[in-house]
Amino acid sequence: MSVSTTTIENRIALVVLDNPPVNALSHALRDGAYKALEAARDNDDVDAIVIACAGRTFVAGADITEFGKPMQAPDLRALIAMIEAIKKPTVAAIHGTALGGGLELALGCHFRVADRAAKLGLPEVKLGLLPGAGGTVRLPYLVGAQAALGLIVSGTPISAQKAHEFGLVDLIAGDDLVQEAMAFATAKAQQGLAPQPVRDRRDTIEATDLAALEAAAAEFARKARGLHAPLACIEAVRNAATLPFDAALAAERDLFVTLMEGEQSRAQRHLFFAEREATKVPGIGRDITPRDIKRAGVIGAGTMGGGIAMALANGGIPVRLVEMNADALARGLATIEKNYGISVSRGSLTQDAASQRMALFSGSTDYADLGDCDFIVEAVFEDMAVKHEVFARIEAVAKPGAILATNTSYLDVNAIAAATGRARDLVGAHFFSPANVMRLLEIVRAEKTDPEVIASMLALAKRIGKVAVVVGVCHGFVGNRMLAARGAELEALLLEGASPQQIDQVFADFGWPMGPFQMLDLAGLDISWRNRKAQGKTAAIADALCEAGRLGQKTAKGFYRYESGARTPHVDPEVDTLIRETARREGVDRRDITAEEIIERTLYPMINEGAKILEEGIATRASDIDIVWVHGYGFPVAKGGPMFYAQSLGIDQIVATLARWHETTGRAIFAPSSLLVDAARRKLSLADALTRS
Ligand code: 3HC
Ligand code: NAI
Repeated sequence: MSVSTTTIENRIALVVLDNPPVNALSHALRDGAYKALEAARDNDDVDAIVIACAGRTFVAGADITEFGKPMQAPDLRALIAMIEAIKKPTVAAIHGTALGGGLELALGCHFRVADRAAKLGLPEVKLGLLPGAGGTVRLPYLVGAQAALGLIVSGTPISAQKAHEFGLVDLIAGDDLVQEAMAFATAKAQQGLAPQPVRDRRDTIEATDLAALEAAAAEFARKARGLHAPLACIEAVRNAATLPFDAALAAERDLFVTLMEGEQSRAQRHLFFAEREATKVPGIGRDITPRDIKRAGVIGAGTMGGGIAMALANGGIPVRLVEMNADALARGLATIEKNYGISVSRGSLTQDAASQRMALFSGSTDYADLGDCDFIVEAVFEDMAVKHEVFARIEAVAKPGAILATNTSYLDVNAIAAATGRARDLVGAHFFSPANVMRLLEIVRAEKTDPEVIASMLALAKRIGKVAVVVGVCHGFVGNRMLAARGAELEALLLEGASPQQIDQVFADFGWPMGPFQMLDLAGLDISWRNRKAQGKTAAIADALCEAGRLGQKTAKGFYRYESGARTPHVDPEVDTLIRETARREGVDRRDITAEEIIERTLYPMINEGAKILEEGIATRASDIDIVWVHGYGFPVAKGGPMFYAQSLGIDQIVATLARWHETTGRAIFAPSSLLVDAARRKLSLADALTRS
């Protein structure tokens, strides 16, 4: 199959590009397209040219697998420049997603016709890049600098309708995109006028309100949070508005190359592929047909149950919500309605959409109402006896083949499954709080879980917009187990001289959205207190805070102090005193603690735990762990996740540092895992050390 096929019909050349699965602009495709378009340009029997794509989408961008390798000619900019210089009308016929280099290719054409379901966007910023083939210049010329700035900095694609309103799309096609694009091209050819390339349409860009553009840019820059790409996008759009066309293009190129060579983009590209890799699960072939999920049941309408129910409804799935009594049910439904209301008031959801979603809920206090559900997930109290009781009741009413899921954070899913007669149908579905917002879903595969159930959970995750990672059973699975390792030294650091605010600041500087003490205050200190008690553990400072009634934001006091109703943490001298007194009581000498030490004693044990998780086969691959941390806990995307970050620091350096702390403290958390030691000794990546053992 050729990457490009040209047919000529009524003097219009139709060039169809074909590079499955998403028509990424690989070298072969660029070369094929260049030659085909050059031939059509030079063919006297051709009056106009339509560029369309075979398969499921228009060109979805540059080929990301080629990034970081030497560029083979023709590069995309040369291809677009050649198209732009064609004197015959050129029309891009867009279906599916015209993204990144794909949209830039379409911007090189004189006109764009789009299918009504098409989406158009420049998502490069999500890969730590900016559009590098003229997108930051041509888009502002076409739709105005300010509108372009929003599209480029957010990276979020827009609908064909919106693109039409912006002037990015000239025509929205009805049922036959290619035929309508051909007819459009014929009409343009018959006008006999030389069509105007985007670069010559200067009216819009010259009318830019520079002050307004700068105000919008400042707002975007404020939200960039240490990421280089959004700032480069801003600079490039500013250039489009202030420099001559070719100078702006050249500046865009320089910015693109700098970003491409940087660590942040490397990390973000790693995450792009990691997310897709995570869907490939050993033993779950594409031949397994997922079970159909038409209706879902959620048991428990508390913090998690309500969020999970919303996530399911957001994916268009009708949800039965079951609670212990009418009051708890009414409270749960009211919270859901309130949350949708907040989205409407913020403008992120229309009133109609909110009403449609609310209409998907039905509530009950009777488990028998779950009889027609294909997927039933429980989010009741974290207590094994309660889980057993709830699954016994589910089992009595669930239809055969229904998938039964637990949202437990720590409990042994094998033990939960063993107590039911349906172990093959049972799976862990560990959502993260708030479940309607956080993108991660840890799918916990128990010993007996049927592969079909795992395939169904992966399909469900995709349907409701979650990023799924399949993990094995252990205390806390991947995420919470590593979280415990990250927090293991926090008390000791406080006793030895650090303060909550200092540690939180080190975390913020690293790029975390929130430090561990702010997170504890938000979640409520009583949750971990209860956990500690259940496990016979203590934490001198946190226990003392709880005993003093300081449970976090909910009591306006925790590691910080809060003004009533507000979430801004304020340093509280009482906490400082409490820490100092505890240290004195425990005979700990206080000293200055550096940021470096804080990182070494929090992040490194977490990486170490990740390596143990890999060794034990709880996670399939290091990149799965990165996905868990980026999407479940806000690990900074610019660092690519903990295991990618470990690689970039150097595994031997990690091992040496862990060993040093192990020697200093004697604590097991620092004893380097054998996988890390082995990878360092053999100078292998974690992935290679795993497979070549
Ligand atoms: N380059 C290389 N491979 C790509 C790719 C790309 N741009 N886009 C997708 N793929 C691959 C995926 O890795 C996946 O491979 P796999 O099956 O081996 O895992 C396969 O194509 C299918 O992708 P998805 O599973 O993501 O398919 P979906 O149907 O769910 O989504 C999509 C399709 C919306 C097009 C999505 O793949 C996507 O968002 N792709 C990336 C788009 C993008 O970021 N484009 C900009 C690239 S950078 C650029 O253009 C620079 C330029 O400005 C110079
Ligand atoms: P929650 O206390 O907010 O909600 C639990 C709800 O379950 C309550 O509304 C309660 O009335 C209801 N319930 C209890 N027993 C029931 C029964 N037999 N039948 C019907 N309803 C019953 O608790 P939360 O935080 O939502 O946690 C639920 C589960 O989710 C726990 O297993 C927890 O470990 C897990 N989880 C919690 C996270 C969090 O951040 N809160 C994150 C991920 C998982």
